[in-house]
Amino acid sequence: MKARVFSGVQPSGNLHIGNYLGALKNWVEIQENYESIWGIVDLHAVTVYQEPAELRSKILETAALFLAVGIDPKQSSIVAQSAVPAHTELAWLLTCVTPVGWLERMTQYKAKSQAQETIGDGLLQYPVLMAADILIYQAAIVPVGDDQAQHLELTRDIAQRFNSLYGDTFTMPATHLPAVGARVMGLDDPEKKMSKSATGTGHAIGLLDPIDQVRKKIMRATTDSQPAVDCDTMGAGVANLLNIFQAFGGWTAEKMQAHFSGMRYGDLKKQVAEMVIAKLEPLQTRYYEIMAEPGYVSGVLNHGAERVSPIANSTVQLVKERMGLYTGA
Ligand code: TYM
Repeated sequence: MKARVFSGVQPSGNLHIGNYLGALKNWVEIQENYESIWGIVDLHAVTVYQEPAELRSKILETAALFLAVGIDPKQSSIVAQSAVPAHTELAWLLTCVTPVGWLERMTQYKAKSQAQETIGDGLLQYPVLMAADILIYQAAIVPVGDDQAQHLELTRDIAQRFNSLYGDTFTMPATHLPAVGARVMGLDDPEKKMSKSATGTGHAIGLLDPIDQVRKKIMRATTDSQPAVDCDTMGAGVANLLNIFQAFGGWTAEKMQAHFSGMRYGDLKKQVAEMVIAKLEPLQTRYYEIMAEPGYVSGVLNHGAERVSPIANSTVQLVKERMGLYTGA
C-alpha cells in the first residue's frame, strides 16, 4: 500500500510562483508515488474575512490551477476542506490537547494578528485545523514551502501529545521541502517572502498574470548597486532571481554559476523572464481550457470529497473511541 501525502493551499488572493515552486510543483512530482490528497483549505481562508462570492469563485479557480499545473485527478484526490466536515470535528478534538502557549508562539499568528483590528479566535486555532487536515489522513509526508515548517513541527507535537495521552493513534508526518524554491522572495523587496496578501503591484508574479506584466515585473525587480552577477557578493534580490530561474529550470548549482557569473543584471532579468514565461504560458492555456468546461472542476471536487471522506471519518471514529466519547456502540 502506498503511503499517504496531504498538502493544501488557501483559496485567498492570487496564487503566485512562490506557491508553485514551494508546493504545487513538488506535488506534481510526487503524486504517483503516494496516495495523494490535495486540499483547497477554504476553512483556513475564512480566518480572515473573505467576500463570499469571491471566495466561492476562488475555490474553483484554485482547483482549476491544481489541474493546470499537472495534478492528475485519476492519481490524486482534490478536495475542498469544507466538503469534508470531519476536518472540523478532528480540529476540535485536537484543540482539547493543545496548550494555548504553543499557538501563541506561532510566527504566522503573530504576524497576521498584528494586521487585524480584532483577532478572530480562528486565527489562533488555525494551526490546529492544519494539524487536523494532515493527521486525519495519517499522512506520512507534507510537501510545503519553508514558511509552513513551524506549523508542521506543531502538528507533530500535537500528534505526539495525543499519542502519549490516548495511545498510538497518529502517524508522524514529515515535512517535505523542495531543494530549490522553498522560499521565494518578493520582487520589489527581497527581504520579504512573496505573499498572496502583499498588495504591491511589483511584489508577486501571479500564475495567471498576463505575460507582458510578468515580463515587466521581472525587469523592474529590485537588485543591488553592482552591475553584474557575482555569486560571492550578490544581494538578496539577485539571489532571488537566480533562485527562481533555477527552480523553474531544474539546473544544477554549478551550471547556474557557470552560466550567470559576470552577466549584467539587464540580461539576467531577460533570461529569468523568458524562463518564467515559458513555464507560465502553457499553464495558463490549460487553465482557461479547464475553466471553459462547464461543471468539470466542481465534478473533480465532488469526486475528491467522496473518495477521501471514508478515510477522514474512520480516523475521527478512532479518535473518539480512544478519547472515550460516545460513538454509538
Ligand atoms: P498558503 O496558501 O499560504 O501557501 C500554499 C503553499 O505555498 C507555499 N508558499 C511558498 N513557498 C515558497 N515561497 C513562497 N514565497 C511561498 N508562499 C507560500 C506554502 O508554504 C504552502 O506550502 N497553512 C497553509 C495551508 C494549509 C496546509 C494544510 C498546508 C492548511 N492545511 C495542511 C499543508 C498541510 C497555507 O496557508 O498555505
